[in-house]
Amino acid sequence: MKKRVGAVLLLLLFVWVGQASAEKEEELKPVPKAYADKHMPKGWWTDAAIIKEGQRLFETAKHEIEDKRAKKMVKIEKGCLTCHAIDKAKDRPVTRGAQDFRAEKAMNRFSDAYWFWRVSEGVPKTKMPAWKEKLTEEERWKVIAYEHTWSHGSKPADHTHKEIVVSVEP
Ligand code: HEC
Repeated sequence: MKKRVGAVLLLLLFVWVGQASAEKEEELKPVPKAYADKHMPKGWWTDAAIIKEGQRLFETAKHEIEDKRAKKMVKIEKGCLTCHAIDKAKDRPVTRGAQDFRAEKAMNRFSDAYWFWRVSEGVPKTKMPAWKEKLTEEERWKVIAYEHTWSHGSKPADHTHKEIVVSVEP
């Protein structure tokens, strides 16, 4: 009997910890002041030519990633696809943990400033690289405009969602 109570308590603990970490993941970091006033140029969310150019960059932008086994940096020309391409069999990005841009709920919360900040500076302690040295500001916005179509069935759409989180570092 005691054993069963222990097992139930353990189970409750797992559920609680699981929920706490799921909630934590959902919280978006505040945007640093330097990026707070960055905004998608007018009309670009839905501009077909911009989106097309963004797709080209998304699929070909040059960068370097670490080859851990060979212990050296290797040049890659597959842009964001390197990690964010969808592995059809697994139905998730090829790099585990990379943002799935089809995830409507997650993407609808990204303010344009947040999005631009993350692409520019990367995400510390993850594989997500910083792109500010590799793509100009305009190129980053183009990539974002393309990326955004993923959460709208690959179609251009305005990024006006009530879920958008606007939070700036104090
Ligand atoms: C080497 C792998 C890799 C490449 C290349 C890469 N990403 Fe990522 N990206 C990741 C990973 C991993 C994450 C998840 C980071 C985390 O845990 O928050 C991520 C997350 C993101 C996010 C979400 C950030 C957040 O705060 O949740 C955006 C936006 C993003 N990537 C855009 C891009 C764009 C645009 C490109 C190309 C210009 C790109 N990524 C290229 C690995 C990559």
